[in-house]
Amino acid sequence: MKQNMMKQLCVFLCHLLVFFCLFTIIPSAYGRKLHRSCKKHHHTYGVSCNSTNNFNILCFGAKANGVSDDSKKLVAAWNAACKVDGGILQIPSNHRFLIKPVTLQGPCMSHVVIQIDGTLLAPSKVGSWSKSNLYQWINIKWVQNITIQGSGTIDGQGCNWWAPMGSKHTFDIKPTALRFYASEDVLVRDIMIKNSPQVHLKFDNSRGVKVNNVSILAPGNSPNTDGIHLQNTRDVEIMHSNIGTGDDCLSIQTGCCNVHIHHINCGPGHGISIGGLGKDKSVACVSDILVENSNIENTLYGARIKTWQGGIGLVKNITFSNIQVTNVNSPIVINQYYCDKSLCKNETGSVAIKEVKFDKITGSYSTQPIYLACSDDIPCTEIDLSGIQLKPSRRPLEGSHVQQALCYNSYGSSNDQLVPSSMNYCLKKGGDGAINQISRLSNADC
Ligand SMILES: *[C@@H]1O[C@H](CO)[C@@H](O)[C@H](O)[C@H]1NC(C)=O
Ligand SMILES: *[C@@H]1O[C@H](CO)[C@@H](O)[C@H](O)[C@H]1NC(C)=O
Ligand SMILES: *[C@@H]1O[C@H](CO)[C@@H](O)[C@H](O)[C@H]1NC(C)=O
Ligand SMILES: *[C@@H]1O[C@H](CO)[C@@H](O)[C@H](O)[C@H]1NC(C)=O
Ligand SMILES: *[C@@H]1O[C@H](CO)[C@@H](O)[C@H](O)[C@H]1NC(C)=O
Repeated sequence: MKQNMMKQLCVFLCHLLVFFCLFTIIPSAYGRKLHRSCKKHHHTYGVSCNSTNNFNILCFGAKANGVSDDSKKLVAAWNAACKVDGGILQIPSNHRFLIKPVTLQGPCMSHVVIQIDGTLLAPSKVGSWSKSNLYQWINIKWVQNITIQGSGTIDGQGCNWWAPMGSKHTFDIKPTALRFYASEDVLVRDIMIKNSPQVHLKFDNSRGVKVNNVSILAPGNSPNTDGIHLQNTRDVEIMHSNIGTGDDCLSIQTGCCNVHIHHINCGPGHGISIGGLGKDKSVACVSDILVENSNIENTLYGARIKTWQGGIGLVKNITFSNIQVTNVNSPIVINQYYCDKSLCKNETGSVAIKEVKFDKITGSYSTQPIYLACSDDIPCTEIDLSGIQLKPSRRPLEGSHVQQALCYNSYGSSNDQLVPSSMNYCLKKGGDGAINQISRLSNADC
């Protein structure tokens, strides 16, 4: 049934693609004319190819028909923009550029802008991706002080990668659409990123990241299509954005700290998550995360922390505040038994979790208002519940039934009168012994 729907969706999207291809013949003819004119007269059709810092991809010979490979033209325009003071790389509106996996590499002369007003398209056939580079599509590496902005779209055309788990066309590695690696002072604003094969926007080993007013969209049943993924990245602000995908809207992984997320509309998807941390007994450290003033709608989870059994490290000082949830299966979750298959081995040890505040989480849930499953070995401590008002949804997901609040091996305090009232008695008081134990552990590892 689900497979059938996926198939139909793929067929539909591929038809849509053909339709678009037809309609890009006109713009492509226009693009060629534009390109010729770029060389002859330098200021026709509003495109200047004789600017000291403004580099339009059309001036580098891009075909702009959505079919011919424009990757080399993109890289050439990038190299030009990167070399000069205040370089701007222009992806003009009303044009579509087919781009194979590329790396746009720094360091650059100074602040660089990538102005995306048109559409960048990834290869839609899985076979046309090079086997040696499946990790990401557009890789921005070693760049300091960069802005990506505009009214355009980064389209991962991922539907051929989305076969459901267990079917014969699944892939071990699926590309991330736009990835920043070891970069600093990055601003991504206004653009749309859609239909990535896997993660849409990823920041890795980076610092000083701002994401503002972006839209990230993929079907709710597309697997592993996280919206924004942070890893080993600090000093981050993500705001005023709409994210709806088939997996986490936002995912915060190990090595992240000082992250502020606010004014996000999330859904469909799996909510806003920290983790999964500590896979394969790895060390994970995450701290100082604030998620506030956001809406989460029609998702599996709301505010969630997930760790694998057997990990090492510490998650601390995490606040989820003023989150409106609508028809979310489980709005408040800590799961220290995270497992992406049906059964994982029991392991000893766990990433410790402390100082987590769930504040003003209000709205409706369809399965369970709160699910805190903390580790047998190291309990969660200093959990703070306040201002929580959750009612069963009038539109529960098909086949789901409401369960009671659950807090296992979780210590902390709840203020006010929480709704449902079972939450008021959910946490255990105290946990001082555990706090001391965690302090010793965390000093050693994080
Ligand atoms: C291109 O720019 C240079 C320097 O900015 C100028 O000297 C030259 O005349 C311009 N050429 C055209 C064809 O506009
Ligand atoms: C980044 O570039 C902007 C614009 O040129 C400039 O004002 C700012 O100082 C730069 N920041 C850093 C950290 O270099
Ligand atoms: C947000 O992005 C959209 C789409 O690019 C744009 O039209 C709008 O002006 C932006 N809003 C703000 C406040 O910058
Ligand atoms: C906790 O995290 C918040 C948000 O990142 C930060 O502003 C605050 O200073 C942190 N508190 C402590 C005690 O470190
Ligand atoms: C793990 O431990 C739990 C509780 O002690 C037990 O019920 C479960 O069967 C164990 N699972 C495995 C895979 O050993």
